[in-house]
Amino acid sequence: MTTQCNKKPSKLELINQASREDIDNWVAKYPADQKQSAVMAALRIVQDQNGGSLTDDLMDAVAEYLGMPTIAVYEVATFYSMYELKPVGRHKICVCTNISCMLCASDDIVKHLQTRLGIKLGETTSDGRVTLKEVECLGACVNAPVIQIENTYHENLTPDKIDKILSNLT
Ligand code: FES
Repeated sequence: MTTQCNKKPSKLELINQASREDIDNWVAKYPADQKQSAVMAALRIVQDQNGGSLTDDLMDAVAEYLGMPTIAVYEVATFYSMYELKPVGRHKICVCTNISCMLCASDDIVKHLQTRLGIKLGETTSDGRVTLKEVECLGACVNAPVIQIENTYHENLTPDKIDKILSNLT
């Protein structure tokens, strides 16, 4: 007689110690029975750990770590634009094209970035240096047009400013 085990193998080991400590700090901000409230932070942390993108296994690991249904983690990861479900370049340039930025010539900013980088929105340079991504409002409308690179906002942009920013990217 054979026995079958339907339990899925744990993926917790995919979350490294530093990420666990970081996630635990976020979990501690919420009531003990609301660990899942840290899901957005946890996804950002493991995404950073993985070089800027998520994998199914990492999302499964986050669900396991926070004791929540896997589907709920997938729903968050696929809803918000800050999560990447495919590998990205070393730098991710998020260009806001929402209403305030559009009225302040974000189209010119997009065109200039595309020309300088030789890629279109949603693409990554062949050397893996930069991914260019169109995003919704970054919440800095008063200083439109705006881009975000990693955790830094660049505001009141002009093509000249873009050139300086790109020349400082490694
Ligand atoms: S519309 Fe671009 S930052 Fe708000």
